[in-house]
Amino acid sequence: MAETKPICSSIECRKEAHLQCPTCVKLGNTEGSFFCSQDCFKKSWGAHKAVHGNTKGLYEPFKTFKYTGPLRAVYPLSPRRAVPPEIARPDYAETGIPRSEILARNSDIKVCTPEEIEAIRVACKITREVLDIAAQAIRVGITTDEIDRIVHEATIERGAYPSPLNYNYFPKSCCTSVNEVICHGIPDQRPLEDGDILNIDISCYYNGFHGDCNGTYFVGNVDEAGQRLVKVTRECLEKAIAIVKPGTRYRDFGKVIEEHATKNGYSVVRTFVGHGINQLFHCAPNVPHYANNKAIGVCKPNHIFTIEPMICEGVHQEHMWPDGWTATTKDGKRSAQFEHTLLVTEDGVEILT
Ligand code: MF3
Ligand code: CO
Repeated sequence: MAETKPICSSIECRKEAHLQCPTCVKLGNTEGSFFCSQDCFKKSWGAHKAVHGNTKGLYEPFKTFKYTGPLRAVYPLSPRRAVPPEIARPDYAETGIPRSEILARNSDIKVCTPEEIEAIRVACKITREVLDIAAQAIRVGITTDEIDRIVHEATIERGAYPSPLNYNYFPKSCCTSVNEVICHGIPDQRPLEDGDILNIDISCYYNGFHGDCNGTYFVGNVDEAGQRLVKVTRECLEKAIAIVKPGTRYRDFGKVIEEHATKNGYSVVRTFVGHGINQLFHCAPNVPHYANNKAIGVCKPNHIFTIEPMICEGVHQEHMWPDGWTATTKDGKRSAQFEHTLLVTEDGVEILT
């Protein structure tokens, strides 16, 4: 059979096509999946994406659920990804239950030794590398499941275990939170759309220690309002980090964050907080991001914890999807988040991620 060169699928374009829609590649579509340029791909997206929904049994799993916004879950989730047996894993990797974390509830804030700090440094460096790799993969048409695959592979390539995988039965290797999702979105088969904002939250477990960071990114062209939300959210984290030093109370960060958020017309999520992190994924201290909180503890040298404010365009309250993880805003408006793992030093702070 003669080989035929694909022609651009964009209407009225007959150019030779060298690009293939990534979702179509994944779904095994050939017909109508090639484009001559990003431009033609973008122009055709509105019509083209319908091709994806009709193939290979994709479905919306929560048939009677009242969504708060336009985002929909797109199932099936991909099968659980394997971690090579030689990679060391946290205690919940097999059971789903973080036993050591549960046993450590009510413990004091850990003061880490120089050796522990060195180990966390390495875990955090890997975590940052993986987040950067994931962020570079973002484009219109890629699914969050495909980003999860990239995250999983980059993590195990570095000899690390993706901390979210099976943590309290979380099914994937990272969290991907689109638009009105506040946090803990499960990577699925929804292709990213032009104008989405996407948070990718990465945590890696290496040599006995976890690192944790996240960032919110633009998919294609995001409107001014979305750009401003993301900018102000990043500033909220920066302003909180700026006051980290020995003597700062863990309840003080919320004031700085909420002040900057409300000044800009936004609200601060109250249900999810920053946390201590070390051999445990989540431990003391609790670090609320809202003002007038009652968090316990004072920053001391060699404490390690995260700050990870979630800032909303509308109300701060959340509504959970039936998957038990995905937390969306109650009004369906957008939410953004940034996170770093931080080390309290003798006179200030070191950002480990
Ligand atoms: N990485 C998130 C955090 O910042 C926690 C994710 S837990 C998961 O604390 F199970 F949802 F992955
Ligand atoms: Co965290």
